[in-house]
Amino acid sequence: MSLAVVSLPVAELTAQTGWDPLRLDPDQYTAQSLTLSSGESIGYRAYEKILYVANLADPVYQTMNIYVPESAYTAPARAVFLKTRVGGYMAAQAGAISEQDATARALAEGYIVVLPGSRGSNSTIRLSDGSTRVTGTAPAGIVDLKAAVRYLRHNADRLPGDMERIITDGTSAGGALSALLGATGNHPDYEPYLWELGAADERDDVFAAVCFCPITDLEHADMAYEWFYHTTNGSARKLSAEQTAVSEKLAARYPEYFNSLGLRTPDGTPLTDKNLMDYIQSFLIRSAQRASDQGTEIPAHAGILLVADGSGKVTGIDLEIYLHYILSQRALKNPPAFDAMGIAGNSPTPENKVFGTPEGIPAHFTPFGLQEKTGNPQAGLDPDQQHRVYLMNPMNFIGRENNKTAPHWYIRHGAVDRDTAFPVPVNLATKLENNGFSVNFFLPWNRNHSGDYDLDELFDWINHTLENPNR
Ligand code: DHB
Repeated sequence: MSLAVVSLPVAELTAQTGWDPLRLDPDQYTAQSLTLSSGESIGYRAYEKILYVANLADPVYQTMNIYVPESAYTAPARAVFLKTRVGGYMAAQAGAISEQDATARALAEGYIVVLPGSRGSNSTIRLSDGSTRVTGTAPAGIVDLKAAVRYLRHNADRLPGDMERIITDGTSAGGALSALLGATGNHPDYEPYLWELGAADERDDVFAAVCFCPITDLEHADMAYEWFYHTTNGSARKLSAEQTAVSEKLAARYPEYFNSLGLRTPDGTPLTDKNLMDYIQSFLIRSAQRASDQGTEIPAHAGILLVADGSGKVTGIDLEIYLHYILSQRALKNPPAFDAMGIAGNSPTPENKVFGTPEGIPAHFTPFGLQEKTGNPQAGLDPDQQHRVYLMNPMNFIGRENNKTAPHWYIRHGAVDRDTAFPVPVNLATKLENNGFSVNFFLPWNRNHSGDYDLDELFDWINHTLENPNR
């Protein structure tokens, strides 16, 4: 279902007519400038509301803004910073440069900054019969962002920057989309969707993915959540008997999945459900240690064990106390945390909506959800739904032969962020590392569900990575 503006494949249309709807007109810009809070002023050319596909399925969201710093016309920009502002698996409009996130800093660093719009669970079009259709059910969001990347490559000769150095950035659902951009470069399974949209016939792999608190691995995130948090059931977490039963069932299913991943620690030790908790604790200890080294006071009730000599050296963590510390800041999600609708009194979540139907009816996206709903322990997703779920999970693509995963990754998940449980980002980072990709992963101390923080650290990493692209 698309608004067929152009009905031929783009490459063919261009071959037949010489007209290419996906070429950027370099003269169609407005000159803008940004004065940073530091007082520094940056001039840039703004290319706004650029249509990045030839067959629009949604005229509101399938547009992108491209901001080129004037400095790039003297010395070409070393990189392109592509920021998605998607949250909650909803649509995002092509955005503007802002000092509220990393985009102003990226421009100040001299990078071309790209803010693509993309469809999501709440983007709709009105049909001629007056009814509406959701344009952005999964996998529309990732397909749109890939189309935007392809547009950039298609216009590499018209933009003064290196289109082989695209760095993606997003937070939460946007962090998941950034991870998908990083993990799934050029994979043929997305091709039919890109073809239907009339995306540019180009590659869509990227150089680096910056992922803040990615809400990802949705197929297994419910199990991971209960496996990690179920020990708080009946104490800090108040659940009904029905909810507790759901929690325990999900928790019990996690080890089989986790063990199937065959992950290893950096020193090669096999990871299983038996040592995963210790492995997660090692990241939390590192987080507390860095905070302590930076002079942050670690609250006595956080469960962080320090040596008694006042040196601030962290020796361990009492996980039970630490979980209570997390829960004291924000209550946990009820089980299931993601594929929740209709189970134990839960409403549809952002994830149920994005995996819903074009008519806007939310849907299950895990076998467990369907089984609980139907009471049939054999129930499974239909193949079409299964395929959509598969296309939304970066874990399915890392290290595969027929795609190009980004070589560089920066992944952050706050040490008190309970929107998804730690195994999700830990597994993502570990799978990438195990497959030979370069990963900078950290759980910032006392940080909740948020993104684009510690910009000095982020841009130090980006600049270092650009200088050392082969490692
Ligand atoms: C977001 C947060 C969630 O807890 C979730 O389940 C999905 C998306 C978000 O902030 O984008």
